[in-house]
Amino acid sequence: MRSLIDTVDFSIEELDDLIRVACDIADHPEKYAHACDGKILATLFFEPSTRTRLSFEAAMLSLGGNVISVSSAGASSAAKGESVADTAKTVSCYADIMAMRHPLEGAALVAAHAASIPVINAGDGGHCHPTQTLADLYTIYREKGRLNNLTVGFCGDLKYGRTVHSLINALSRYTGIKVVLISPEELRLPEYMFAEVLDKKGMTYEETTDLVAAMPELDILYMTRVQRERFADQEQYQRLKDSYILTLDKLDTAKADLAILHPLPRVNEISVAIDNDPRACYFKQVLGGKLMRMALILKLLEDAKNDYQSFRVVDGLIHKDTKTCRNGRCICQVEQEIEHLFVQTDAENDVWRCYWCETQAE
Ligand code: NCD
Repeated sequence: MRSLIDTVDFSIEELDDLIRVACDIADHPEKYAHACDGKILATLFFEPSTRTRLSFEAAMLSLGGNVISVSSAGASSAAKGESVADTAKTVSCYADIMAMRHPLEGAALVAAHAASIPVINAGDGGHCHPTQTLADLYTIYREKGRLNNLTVGFCGDLKYGRTVHSLINALSRYTGIKVVLISPEELRLPEYMFAEVLDKKGMTYEETTDLVAAMPELDILYMTRVQRERFADQEQYQRLKDSYILTLDKLDTAKADLAILHPLPRVNEISVAIDNDPRACYFKQVLGGKLMRMALILKLLEDAKNDYQSFRVVDGLIHKDTKTCRNGRCICQVEQEIEHLFVQTDAENDVWRCYWCETQAE
């Protein structure tokens, strides 16, 4: 069964197709108003969300479908200790498609293996968030008319910011992309993103702590919130939370056609004075998120008609007693029944990664 767990589950052509459909929906919403009549979307949100859950629900309702919803872990059987796999099997009996957000990394992938309906990852811990990436790609495309040949700055919490991980992953498949990573040392991009994406794909990138110095060369500036809920050490959060605040004066040296994106919610990373600047695109991005989720629901329901295979047949997937995933936020560390599976991603250096959360195994 086709699911979307990470952007790499779709080819570039499929992503381009989603953007094309989303543009058509924006221009002719009436054509799609009954496309999902009689279909049910389940939204399972075990972690707070405003935009993502409402955007999925608005998307399904705009397609003529219906929505059933769990909006917090406390309100579901997860609070009684039900596993993600059992929840996914249960929901498969009620709905035609589900969107899941969960604090544990790899949770949506576990759900996709258990479910008999398409699963959409609406954010798994600090790991990935592919439907935000769909919104981001749509916005970049609408603003720039292309997804190639761009210098993209990512600023803020690059360690825990799952939207950053998913977008860099997606951009790695386009040509002429330069990535500028702007963060404090403590919030650098995780090691697996360098090993598995930036270095492996030979992307051009640089790292800096200086937003103002990086500004002049950027076509896109992707601001992010410091992810308070993922810090084990709240003192560290307090120290880092105001590392970057974008104010109008910092845009003095920016390109006139810079596009400023932010997945939202904003805490104080972007001064509200910037909201009326034509370069501010973050609220347009919200609308793009709904349109792309409409296109995605249509695609996955269409694919589900023809595809009964199990999700992601991965070559070389191995249960190895000699390897351990040490990521305490990984679902395999928390749910006892989950098989510890590893994939070798670099034979030369004998690097193995946890199949669920991608952290390097020890
Ligand atoms: C992001 C998320 O949930 O990761 N928000 C969103 O989906 N729009 C970013 C964030 O919470 O900072």
